[in-house]
Order: sequence, then C-alpha cells, then structure tokens
Amino acid sequence: AVVEHTFNVGNLSISQLCQPDMIITAVNGQLPGPTIQASEGDTVVVHLVNESPYRMTIHWHGIFQRGTPWADGPTMVTQCPVRQGGNYTYRFNVTGQEGTLWWHAHISFLRATVYGALVILPRAGAGAYPFPKPDKEEILMFGEWWNANVYDLHETAFLTGQPAGPANAYTINGKPGDLYNCSAPNQTHKIEVRQNETTLLRIINAALNTPLFFKVKDHTFTVVAADACYTTPYKTDVVVIAPGQTVDALVVADAAVGRYYMAVSPYDSAIPGNPAFSMTTGTAVLEYVGAGNATVPPVLPPQPDYNDTATAYKFLSNLTALVLPGRPTVPLDVDTRMFVTVGLGVSDCQPEQTMCNRSEGPVFSSSMNNASFVLPRATSMLEAHYGGASAGVYTRDFPDRPPIVFDYTSAASDNDTMQYTEKSTKVKTLKYNATVEMVLQNTALIAKESHPMHLHGFNFFVLAQGFGNYNETAAVSQFNLVNPQERNTVAVPTGGWAVIRFVADNPGMWYMHCHFDAHLDLGLGMVFEVQNGTTADTSVPPPPRDLPLC
Ligand code: C2O
Repeated sequence: AVVEHTFNVGNLSISQLCQPDMIITAVNGQLPGPTIQASEGDTVVVHLVNESPYRMTIHWHGIFQRGTPWADGPTMVTQCPVRQGGNYTYRFNVTGQEGTLWWHAHISFLRATVYGALVILPRAGAGAYPFPKPDKEEILMFGEWWNANVYDLHETAFLTGQPAGPANAYTINGKPGDLYNCSAPNQTHKIEVRQNETTLLRIINAALNTPLFFKVKDHTFTVVAADACYTTPYKTDVVVIAPGQTVDALVVADAAVGRYYMAVSPYDSAIPGNPAFSMTTGTAVLEYVGAGNATVPPVLPPQPDYNDTATAYKFLSNLTALVLPGRPTVPLDVDTRMFVTVGLGVSDCQPEQTMCNRSEGPVFSSSMNNASFVLPRATSMLEAHYGGASAGVYTRDFPDRPPIVFDYTSAASDNDTMQYTEKSTKVKTLKYNATVEMVLQNTALIAKESHPMHLHGFNFFVLAQGFGNYNETAAVSQFNLVNPQERNTVAVPTGGWAVIRFVADNPGMWYMHCHFDAHLDLGLGMVFEVQNGTTADTSVPPPPRDLPLC
C-alpha cells in the first residue's frame, strides 16, 4: 500500500511556560508533527511544502532508504534544502524493518520543533509482534523546549563558534508538564489506561542535546525493541534513551487505580559536567480510568542522579537482539576496519563564522579522527557523487586511524595535536557490500561525554562496549556474535568505546554523526560513500525531477 501525507511546514504560534506567544516552525500546525503509520513493505510518500521562513529538509531517521538515497534528507549531504515557498516529494519503501522510528528536520536546529513519529507495523497477514499483543499503543516523544527562536540560536552558535545554552524545559509530546513554573494545565500530556491493561509505549528521544532517564512511578517496563529492532524482553524500572534512539516497552497497569507521573530527567554524561544541560524534569501523567479526584497530586518517581553513568551503561549494554528467522545476522568476516576517535576540540575561526572573536583564539569544535566535518556549500555530496564530480565538494581521505595514538580517555593526557582540529569534508569510500567494523573511541579532549553516534542508511550491530581506551585483545573476547543489539544510534559510553559492524549494501552517501545538534554542526560527523556497483541495482538511481536546486 501507499501511505501518503502532505507536510506543510510553517509558522505555529504557541505559548509555553508563561512566555508570550512564540512563533515556532512546525508541520501542519502540530507539535509534535503528524505521526506516519505504515506497514512493513508499504511505500511512504510525503509532499513537503515549505511555507516556513527557513530552508528545510526532512530526514526519516532509521529508514534504510534502500534504492532511494535522494529521499534521506540531510541538508547538503543528500540534497540541497527546499527553499522558502518550494516543495519536494520524499518517496521511499519501508521494507525489511518494523517498529518505532521518527522523522525530523535535518538543517539548522529546526528539528527542535519539526519532528514526529514514524511507526512501521508488521505486514498485514505476515503475523504479529514477537511478544503478547498489547491492549493499546501510545507514542511518547521526548523533546527540548527553548524560550527562543531555535534558528537564531543556531545562527549565533555557528557564527560565534560557541555552543548554544541549555533548553528551558524537557517535553513529552511537546508539553513540559506541571513541574515547571507556570506550566498551564493543558501543558501536561496524559495517557489513560484501564487497570491491568498492557500498553506498548513507543518512546522516542527527539531532544537536541540530552540523553534522558525515563521512569513511571510504581510501574516497570519490559523493553521489546530499540531503534526498530526487536530485543530479548528486558525488564527494568528505568529506560535510558539518547537523542536519536527509540525504545519500545510494555507497561502493565498493575498498580492501584490512580494517577502516576511519567518523568524524564537528563543523563549528563559529560565529565566535567556540561553547562548545556538543563537540570529539570519533564512530566506526563498516566491516569487510570476511575482515578477521579484530579486534586490528588501524583508523586514523582525517584529519578537517577543526572550523572548516574552506571545506570545508563547497565541499560544500554544489556540489551540483546531477539533472534528471529529471516532477520540479518552478524557478518563474521570483516573487509574494512576502522578505529575512529569521537570527541570535542577547538579550531580556528572559519571565514563564515563572522561573529567569531579571532583575538580570543580558537573556538569550540568537534571531530572524528581529528577531521572536523563541514558541509559543502554549492552542491550536495550525493549530486557530486552521482555526477562523478567530487572535486571541490569532498575528498576521499577520511582516515581509518587517528593521526596519533595517545591516552584517549585520560584528562591528564589532554593532547594538543588532537585537540586542534582541521575543518574538511572527507568521506570514507566503501566497496558495495563490504563489511565494515568500526571502533568508536570517545576522547577526554575538553570533556568526556557519551556521544550518540547515528548512521544513516543502515542498522549496525553493537558487538561490545566499555570504558577507557579500547584494547583489542580484551574487547574481541567480549564480542557478542550471537545476538548483539542492532541499532541505528549507539551511545558510546562516556570516556569509553563501542564496536559496531555493518554491511555496506546500500549505494549512496550516508552521513554518520553525533546526534547532539550542538556537536553536529561543529564537525562531529563524516560521510560514507558507498560506491556504485556495476549493475543497475547496485548503483545510485537518477535524482527525482523535483530535487531542489542549491
Ligand atoms: Cu536523526 Cu542525521 O539524523
């Protein structure tokens, strides 16, 4: 079947936290935007009509885009943005994947308000979930809210080379909840359940910069999927979710009839702490039918401390895949091995950073293997790739190793050479169908932090993760080659590492980057160029006729 939507991106006037009405950018006047619901095997068609004052693209986060690389969406990687007044139709299949994904703007900080859920149900007739059918399903999208124009925030951050400040609130389905000063009664999201019902929560972290702890007072979760990949059922009383990730969890309403807080609070993985985090709690309410008395104040679940890395690591490292017939299994032979440092740094002011204070020395930056990624300006990377005209757009020299070996995770050995990054647009070229193993090594340069690394165009297996410097011999013995979790976004442990593997069976240009927007535009990314094969089905198809021009 074809699932078709029109997304009118335009202004929405909204008031939160007692602020005067603010104009935000939103799809179809909704925050979050519309949910796309499809069944595995369907074709999704979305007509983007840009009535906003900004240039716009939409990314379908976690969708493979097999054979449709022009629909992936990251600005200047796979397309030039849709201009004000312009439009573009995204058309792609949702084949071979099911579960909870999402979509978001992929330009500036506009995904702060331009986002929504993308739910892929099992194919009709092909069966059902590999867990007992829930009585109902609910989407919970976590976000961050600024009492400011996020486009302007981005401009200032980019032009000055300084990170943007903390959000004013965490939100659940666009609403901050009633723990914030002056949050209006209609600014709390509510889910209604009957006692003993089972609800499937489709949880999405759409926040710009903050991993979150999520709890429901007096209730526990059974996690059944992450990033639209089924997991071995995992019982927990806390869900940990980094920006870009999704978690599907069953919750049984087995408490006394009443009202219960559902709460999100930050996991600030940065050491030393990160001033870009807001130390507040966003809430929604789980209300049992019959709870009646609205004056009974719900009690907050005790949240983990903001710096509780042990709780975060336990959740994130204990998930395993549910092995199902027909699902991809871990490739055992590796063609391309990479060791890539991921972290913060500094760089010179760039010419386009017109508000950069040159007399104060270098500005904030971030990089992978010390290459600080910048988007090309004149043409998209996929167009350059397709036209065989990479010159002046990107170079094929993304390094497989860091330029020097040092003690990556000890703050004491802060390394000047590695801290000082060079801006460039480097890609790693892969042969079609190559199996890639990538060690992602976080650094302590400036600060240790858990970077949520997202790969477009593929899922990857997470074979192992840990703290400190990667030690190959020790790590290989821990590799899970039986049922490793499959994801599109891995939260590399703070001051630690993760090993991922994927098969490059999707021709195109695929962005890999930190899903903190504060790091993304300062260079924490790179692009895989998956080479054209020699047959039609292994090469990039011609661009759609309405592909926006730069
Ligand atoms: Cu969800 Cu490139 O991002």
